[in-house]
Amino acid sequence: MTDRFVDHVRLSDDERRLVILDQTLLPNSREYIELETAEEMYEAIVSLRIRGAPALGIFAGFAMYVLSLGYDKACFMESFRRDAEYLCSSRPTAVNLSRALKRMTDAAEKSGGDTRALRRECQAILDEDIDMCTAISRFGLSLLKEGSTVLTHCNAGPIATSRYGTAIGPIIMAAERGMRVAAYCDETRPLLQGARLTAWELMTAGVDVTLICDNMSASVMSQGKIDICFVGCDRVAANGDTANKIGTSLLAIAAKHYGVPFYVLGPTSTIDLECRSGSDIVIEQRDGKEISTLWYSHPMAPEGVRCFNPAFDVTDSSLITGIITEKGICRPPYTESLGSLFK
Ligand code: MRU
Repeated sequence: MTDRFVDHVRLSDDERRLVILDQTLLPNSREYIELETAEEMYEAIVSLRIRGAPALGIFAGFAMYVLSLGYDKACFMESFRRDAEYLCSSRPTAVNLSRALKRMTDAAEKSGGDTRALRRECQAILDEDIDMCTAISRFGLSLLKEGSTVLTHCNAGPIATSRYGTAIGPIIMAAERGMRVAAYCDETRPLLQGARLTAWELMTAGVDVTLICDNMSASVMSQGKIDICFVGCDRVAANGDTANKIGTSLLAIAAKHYGVPFYVLGPTSTIDLECRSGSDIVIEQRDGKEISTLWYSHPMAPEGVRCFNPAFDVTDSSLITGIITEKGICRPPYTESLGSLFK
């Protein structure tokens, strides 16, 4: 582990608890919390103390390992399945969560409940993610030039994944190599992952970053300030339609209008060929208080106003220039290029 990256999901020293960086407190305070019960883990996901599709997969792996240490041998698999289903019900859109839980359940079944096998499996989920993010960042970097400016949305950096992140991985890697690359980041209403997390991660990495409100992206593109858009993903359907943080599709529409290349970056663990198109993806709906009240010392909307608060949207594949995975850059038609990744 280098100083550049924080170990934001890990086991405690005695390996009996899960330790995470509480992302709701960033950037003002860097506090780690310990989780022991399935209820505490569920709450951490729903409250976005841990978030970002690949990070949810890593979290789920370690969570199931920690929980498995407390199961009675006589009803091991029953307890395992009950907790896996419970954690799976916390957030529906990011496929990495359900996929990691399924992977841990398979490992538990195959090993007959051997917790050493589960320890190896959760470590493998993390190690694979580190390799995937590094490879994705290298492919993304190949699209950047000296002086490039990237626009990004939400947070797809190290704390949403493992080391480099996906969408902001190439920018961090460029900075590491001494390349002059700048970034604009959308604040990402309503929960401000861009303002709180991406701006913090990019500044920490020494990147020249400018924060904008979500409704400014078309304006900065029209002024020729943006060379390329990089965004993350929570679930990519077989035809390339991509669910990501709410607002991503608006950015893609503006990018198409202004001729700015628009790339989605994500590991193959976020591609779900079982979803044929974006309409098969379940979009999480969240409490309207996140729009009307949260983050403000006083509510900033009239009490009782109806709010509509979908956490994600689906970007139509026709708006996406390329999908960058750890295996390379997929181009349209995505049904073929994504499908060939799994052959
Ligand atoms: O609601 P969040 O913060 O979990 O949403 C996260 C995103 O939309 C990210 O862009 C996505 O998970 C990719 S993280 C590499």
